[in-house]
Amino acid sequence: MKKYVFLTAFCSATLISGAALAAPTLTALEELGRHIYMDKDLSLNSSQSCATCHHENYGFADPTNSRDPYNTMVSLGDDGVSKGGRNAPTAAYAGYSPILGLTADGAWQGGMFWDGRATGDTLGDPLAEQAQGPPLNPVEMNMPSKEAVVERVAAANYAAQFIKLFGADAFADPDLAYDNIGRAIAAYERSAEITAFTSRFDTGKLSGQERRGLNLVVDNCTTCHGVQETFGAPAALFTTYRYENIGVPVNETLLNDPDSVYTVPDNGLGGFLGDPAEYGKFKVPTLRNVALTAPYSHNGYFPTLTAMVSFHNSRDVDPAWPAPEVAANLNTTDTGNMGLSSQEIDDIVAFLHALTD
Ligand code: HEC
Ligand code: HEC
Repeated sequence: MKKYVFLTAFCSATLISGAALAAPTLTALEELGRHIYMDKDLSLNSSQSCATCHHENYGFADPTNSRDPYNTMVSLGDDGVSKGGRNAPTAAYAGYSPILGLTADGAWQGGMFWDGRATGDTLGDPLAEQAQGPPLNPVEMNMPSKEAVVERVAAANYAAQFIKLFGADAFADPDLAYDNIGRAIAAYERSAEITAFTSRFDTGKLSGQERRGLNLVVDNCTTCHGVQETFGAPAALFTTYRYENIGVPVNETLLNDPDSVYTVPDNGLGGFLGDPAEYGKFKVPTLRNVALTAPYSHNGYFPTLTAMVSFHNSRDVDPAWPAPEVAANLNTTDTGNMGLSSQEIDDIVAFLHALTD
């Protein structure tokens, strides 16, 4: 029954995304956002742009991590030394995440970052608010102030486009200008160039194995990597934007790296909210483009999709898995003992590859 409903939604999605296959035309705001997203001058030493850590060839996640997921789980900052404490997620399909809030059944949902701390409360848009974080983050783009970022944009070769959209006084008030920088970037991230819906899942061209994988995903994963609720998107996003503790182990490699700000325990949403009832919970990531974005989970513990799915499958039955980084609030009903065969895990991984745009 569940499968039937899903396939209907899937067919209509195919029709809509057919149009998105042509080279996307960007609006003036999206075009401006593209310039800012690609601008290395948003970092102190002009060494990195948003695209440095969220690159189109790597599912809008970090290319360095993706190329060497066994050794490199977090991004290097603009200073060339500092490293973050969390794995860079994709910047695609994030734009449908609602403002952080409680659902009718009392669960946290929405917001941006692994822990939801870009809530959306300030600008009414979590994605625009998120875009204001990295330029000022010392282990990322490392700029000293909003004013400094606005000055760089005002001096850029696309500054005239900024003025055309936001008026002659566009740079007069740095707070307002910084808000508009966030809004323009968010518009680009939501555009068909990043949030494309052009995967083989969308076009319906799945092989037999991928189709088996899709059915296994619908049966085992969609309580969290949801397909029913689409948040206004034309097709399934493979996330509920809710928060769960699935018991990801401590990443020892990262812990032993003196340049990384990773410390344990990372309490995720609970740390941000200051609420022990949410300790260890992280936002359910979308599965779109996931084949390009290794390593996996908030601390990059899993170098491959097979390792990630195997963990979901056997956390509670295979003693080889280390203890969770945070033991509290572990979800033991929907994950940890799925009873999948290795053939079924392969089928799921094959399907995950069909989610690449
Ligand atoms: C040095 C690497 C780096 C740079 C530069 C960078 N990011 Fe990120 N980005 C990250 C990491 C790491 C996270 C996860 C941090 C966390 O959750 O605490 C992240 C999170 C995000 C998210 C949240 C996705 C989600 O599903 O919650 C978005 C969107 C995003 N970045 C967009 C951007 C934009 C836009 C820029 C440029 C203004 C940018 N990033 C610059 C590394 C980077
Ligand atoms: C209980 C909810 C839940 C279920 C069920 C679940 N997942 Fe997850 N999954 C998560 C959460 C939460 C994370 C991130 C956890 C973290 O980083 O601490 C995650 C991470 C992942 C990732 C890594 C994505 C990334 O970008 O790092 C993949 C891939 C994945 N899950 C696939 C699956 C598949 C396939 C299934 C079904 C076989 C499944 N999940 C079932 C909640 C769930």
